Amino acid sequence: MGIEYDPYSDEAMTDATEFYRQMRAEGCPHHIEKYDAWAFTRFDDVKSASLKGKCLDFTHGQTPGQVLLGEEVLESFSTKNGAEHRKWRGVIAGDFTQQAVQAQVPRYRELARRLWLENRDRGQLDVYRDYANRFFCINAGYKLGLPGEDGERYRALIDDILHRERGQKGATSQRNQQAFAELAERLGAYIAEIREHPERATGFTKAYMEAEIDGRRLTDHELLLYMITLLIVGSETTPMVIAAFFYYLAQHPEQKAAVLADHSLIRQAFLETARFHQPTNMLARTALDDFEIAGQQICKGQKLLFVYASANRDEAQFDRPDAFDIFRSDLEPNMTFGMGSHVCLGMHVGIEAGIIIIEEMLKDIENFDVEFDKVERAYGEHLSGFIGMPVRFTLKS
Ligand code: HEM
Repeated sequence: MGIEYDPYSDEAMTDATEFYRQMRAEGCPHHIEKYDAWAFTRFDDVKSASLKGKCLDFTHGQTPGQVLLGEEVLESFSTKNGAEHRKWRGVIAGDFTQQAVQAQVPRYRELARRLWLENRDRGQLDVYRDYANRFFCINAGYKLGLPGEDGERYRALIDDILHRERGQKGATSQRNQQAFAELAERLGAYIAEIREHPERATGFTKAYMEAEIDGRRLTDHELLLYMITLLIVGSETTPMVIAAFFYYLAQHPEQKAAVLADHSLIRQAFLETARFHQPTNMLARTALDDFEIAGQQICKGQKLLFVYASANRDEAQFDRPDAFDIFRSDLEPNMTFGMGSHVCLGMHVGIEAGIIIIEEMLKDIENFDVEFDKVERAYGEHLSGFIGMPVRFTLKS
């Protein structure tokens, strides 16, 4: 019997792991009739497709909602092809190199420490809501040059934009749309202010306001879409990995004990968590030309799903892929941050800041446990992870 996979079915939006296993077992890309889309689920297929630069179109969107459902494309460098993409990504790329990120480490540590100390004496916290997600919203706002810690004020709006009700397809609810309109209005007011007082602009907003590429500058509307994109991608995924770090360690007491005893293991535990429970479940493109993957002919105009979460569980790539094992020796290469020209720009930020957030917390902790019955999971086709992670802990004496 054929595989009845629809990324928008209730089963797939709840947990698509079993569909991914079945599609990988087919040994080639899986065609989804309903959308005339190909799902790449095997590591080698996602890799080969990611490296087909000239055959991939991003201008019709790169989220499943944009490509499969025709949702409005939020134009930014991520939705450009080839040289255009390289040039506009290049405006801020220098700030994301390993070296540039290392220079940010003291600021990450100071911010993480401050947010952790607000929670330390309570004996419990929601690692996602009270700590990690706040950190990344503040950081994303700071990098955009938003005044004070405004990024945190946008947190509820970002959550509301990404929220999906059961059975909801795409960002169609009133809650999604109202939150988007409010975010756009607030950032729009900020853009109007800095257009009047350009000396107040800093960070990525200043960089994009001043950038002139091939004789063109961004309009206010384009600048707004760049800011929204950077605010969302900079804050949504890493907190899910941090929440999952606590969840899976609590499920594996021996590995938890090892990490608590030796904090140098935090890095590999963080990276294994990101492999095991990839937060950017899948992203999408459109074929710009005909090409072949694993014997399947892909035709120009067809829709493509790059299912990173499945590639990271491919049994042909990883030994015991469904085992959470911080000591595995085959963690690299993986698809956690994608591959090719649109590889994650914020990879070093996610890893370094993610580790620091965990380190600052574990420094003071003797042991922790997760309240499993109160954990909250994101529901949807695009993001997969935990958005509520209540943790109880005992402090070192
Ligand atoms: C553990 C955390 C993270 C994971 C797992 C992750 C994963 C990914 C993946 C898989 C892509 C590829 C998108 C595609 O296929 O189109 C991507 C793109 C991107 N990520 Fe991340 N990301 C993380 C953290 C971050 C952070 C912290 C930032 C910003 C500070 C960021 C910024 C971006 C941007 C701007 C892109 C688009 C790149 C482009 O289209 O040129 N990411 N990310």
